[in-house]
Amino acid sequence: MIELKNISKIYESNENNRVTALKDVSINFKEGELILLKGPSGSGKSTMLSLIAALSKPTSGEVIVDTKRISKLADTFAATYRRNNIGFIFQKYNLIPNLSVEDNILLPLIPLNLSEDEAQKHVKSVMEKFHIAHKKEIAVKSLSGGEQQRVAIARANVNKPKIILADEPTANLDKELSLKFIEILRELKSQNKTIIVATHDPLFFGLDFVDREIEMLNGELLV
Ligand SMILES: Nc1ncnc2c1ncn2[C@@H]1O[C@H](COP(=O)(O)OP(=O)(O)OP(=O)(O)O)[C@@H](O)[C@H]1O
Ligand SMILES: [Mg+2]
Repeated sequence: MIELKNISKIYESNENNRVTALKDVSINFKEGELILLKGPSGSGKSTMLSLIAALSKPTSGEVIVDTKRISKLADTFAATYRRNNIGFIFQKYNLIPNLSVEDNILLPLIPLNLSEDEAQKHVKSVMEKFHIAHKKEIAVKSLSGGEQQRVAIARANVNKPKIILADEPTANLDKELSLKFIEILRELKSQNKTIIVATHDPLFFGLDFVDREIEMLNGELLV
């Protein structure tokens, strides 16, 4: 379902500053699979997620999702691809602090031109599912870390994506909330979502419902 073919990614801020974030990486992810991407800071985990989300383009190689070459998409098509396929949970959540919980969750739906009723229905359903409905009118900046994370998870699911990408999702959470997040992942996995989690949190290691743990180092996969 997701295929990375000979992917290299070089960040070049200027001539003296080239970073090879990924080196000739090839790997496939199957539908419904839950994969952990592990590896030290700087090993290329976030870069790999951003390529699958079409948030950036590889320097060489191809990313193919459902037979579509997403690494070749122009920006507007990349945005449509993301909207229709991807739920992204960022380490820092990327929420808008002054907007309410429900407005933050509503954002990904705006380009879809749903009726207001329809959009509200989707928002309500994910707010309830991820236990944040009681705070729906509160500005996100006044929420605790765990609550903000539930908003981020709800927002990542409001467009019913087939693919969920999570970048260090528990980095700002205590153990109890991290374990709750793991239960949410278990549920999403049972809905046959394809899930890739970049993490160095040992709480994720060796879980029964994780299909594969992939170790990265210096832009390469260790196998
Ligand atoms: N926008 C950028 N411009 C220049 N270099 C970058 C950029 N993004 C990432 N890099 C570099 O690419 C390499 C891989 O970074 P990446 O963020 O993918 O690592 P990571 O495995 O996610 O690390 P962490 O665990 O710290 O989040 C690092 O050396 C990083 O400094
Ligand atoms: Mg990272």
